[in-house]
Amino acid sequence: MQHFLSIDQLSLPSIESLIQRAHYFKHKQQYPNYSSYCLANLFYENSTRTRVSFEWAAKQLALNVINLPLASSSESKGESIEDTLLNLAAMNIHLMVIRHSQNHQVETLAKRVGNRCHLINAGDGTHAHPSQALLDLMTIQEVKPHFADLKVAILGDIKHSRVANSLQAIFAKVGIKQLHLIAPKRWLPEKVSFGHSTESLEEGLHNADVIICLRVQKERLNDLDHVDLCGYRKQYALTSISRLYARANAMIMHPGPVNRGIEIDDEVVDGEHSYILQQVSNGVYMRMAIIESLLLSPKY
Ligand code: CP
Repeated sequence: MQHFLSIDQLSLPSIESLIQRAHYFKHKQQYPNYSSYCLANLFYENSTRTRVSFEWAAKQLALNVINLPLASSSESKGESIEDTLLNLAAMNIHLMVIRHSQNHQVETLAKRVGNRCHLINAGDGTHAHPSQALLDLMTIQEVKPHFADLKVAILGDIKHSRVANSLQAIFAKVGIKQLHLIAPKRWLPEKVSFGHSTESLEEGLHNADVIICLRVQKERLNDLDHVDLCGYRKQYALTSISRLYARANAMIMHPGPVNRGIEIDDEVVDGEHSYILQQVSNGVYMRMAIIESLLLSPKY
């Protein structure tokens, strides 16, 4: 694999092998040394979890890490993002982790840089967030490994969510039994690649084994999407009451950042069935596996 761009490019065996390697890193706590390589983080959108976990994952594998300060980079003088990447590749930066607000931007850049370096999509617009989907699947597998029996519900702003897109793709590949996408009509996408969409919280959560709650992405809403947040909360918030539609031991997940008191309540975030921080911990191991798989690909 030259570039890590989306779940669609991964075969089922490669998904399984990445997750297996992430589990190995988590449980062995013994890591190979890739100290001759360098990874650069280029985040054109804000991030806490993804940026830090790619940095920490790279450091655990002894890579050198550069966090490019974009505000003071030469892009502020008019250099294009393509030229920035080509210049970094010319300095032998092997891996570049990119988050961008534009859909498919990392794919476009990958075509431009070819095999000069490896690009990793750390979230592009509303399109894809493949490392998040992998770490979510790893977390589900740790608790409920029988995918063919699972009912999963994704709740929230599905339409603007790159996480929901990548989750649909990965759940289809691994054969999750049932996927329900729950949102008010204006936040349901026109096309669903896998699963069944519903406006009913009760129907969508009924007997769910896993609930993945999404953030209300205020920054991606336009005037047409305007939603009354109080109204949203009343109908769709994951609370200690509404979660009872799902199975008693349903896993509660959220990719973060969490808007406590909007899409999800404190009691649920901090409750005994919450795996939100386990997702974050697993993210480091999953990103170690992704970085290693790129470094071991035939080009390097
Ligand atoms: N889940 C996620 O992408 O979080 P960050 O925006 O903090 O990276």
